Amino acid sequence: MIITCPRCKKQCNIDEKRIPPNVRKARCKSCGYLFALNLSAGGEESLSRKSTRIIGVALSKGGVGKTTTAVNLSAGLALAGHKVLLIDTDTQGQASYSLGVKPKAGLVELITEELKPEETVCKVRERLWLLAGGKSLAGVKRLIDRKDFGGELTFKESLGVFDGEYDFIVLDTSPGWDALTVGVLFYVKEVLTPISLEVMALQGLVEFMKSLASIRKYREELELKYILPTFLDGRVKQSQKMLEELSKLYGQQICSPVRYNVRIAEAPAYGKTIYEYAPGSPGAHDYRELVRRVTNNPNLFR
Ligand SMILES: Nc1ncnc2c1ncn2[C@@H]1O[C@H](COP(=O)(O)OP(=O)(O)O)[C@@H](O)[C@H]1O
Ligand SMILES: [Mg+2]
Repeated sequence: MIITCPRCKKQCNIDEKRIPPNVRKARCKSCGYLFALNLSAGGEESLSRKSTRIIGVALSKGGVGKTTTAVNLSAGLALAGHKVLLIDTDTQGQASYSLGVKPKAGLVELITEELKPEETVCKVRERLWLLAGGKSLAGVKRLIDRKDFGGELTFKESLGVFDGEYDFIVLDTSPGWDALTVGVLFYVKEVLTPISLEVMALQGLVEFMKSLASIRKYREELELKYILPTFLDGRVKQSQKMLEELSKLYGQQICSPVRYNVRIAEAPAYGKTIYEYAPGSPGAHDYRELVRRVTNNPNLFR
């Protein structure tokens, strides 16, 4: 859990299980301030047991940077000190490949209850766990389709066990609009949509927003919180123009863009995140900026 000092706002990641039950106060390591540790409720002078933030990286279009973003956002959040679970809901299993791992189990074993939840996740980096996707997810899709009703809640029901276990849960989704995507959107609370500035993607965004609205009828809390422009190429006029247009239309949600950077495209083949493969690259810089935005912490990594 993350405890935030009410005075200097410094955050400290502490294993909740290591806090003895009779402890009521904490002293900030950074500024020395002594404050009440109200572990059950919350309040001004206290605490904060944060609930898990669940973010789905989604857009019906393929090749816009969803997997890249899900992987590097998760890895960046973990580097920033948060406990993170990355869930791959794509049948291509690209998230595992990008992180250089071959997990034996994953989402399928969780949903079919073949294994215990803790046996389905795989630790891939410090503070970062992966619940792998892959080909066998096609079976889950069939399983959802066969249910007479409630299929859309399959993910929510199975993944509920991880609530409160992590600070962030980030989901990578497949392109298209199918039972798996709908399942994800019935589970996540926040949506992050990457928009490629390379192609005329605006139409795709508008369509996707319509589909989101149809789900929001049943789930008011679902929010398209971030729109991330990707593949920004400063040399291409159209790229800059699209960015301006997007900012005009969706100013609030627009994040600082991720530039076209060949290092980003190279990193997965080495099983490395952008921070590991090319920490000084524009790609690493841009994804750190995204982590600052999502955590609302402008001082991170400075
Ligand atoms: N900012 C970027 N600059 C250069 N290449 C990128 C960038 N973002 C993603 N890529 C590459 O583009 C391809 C598609 O990205 P990917 O994240 O797999 O998209 P999606 O998951 O939406 O299909 C991948 O080969 C990836 O490495
Ligand atoms: Mg993908």
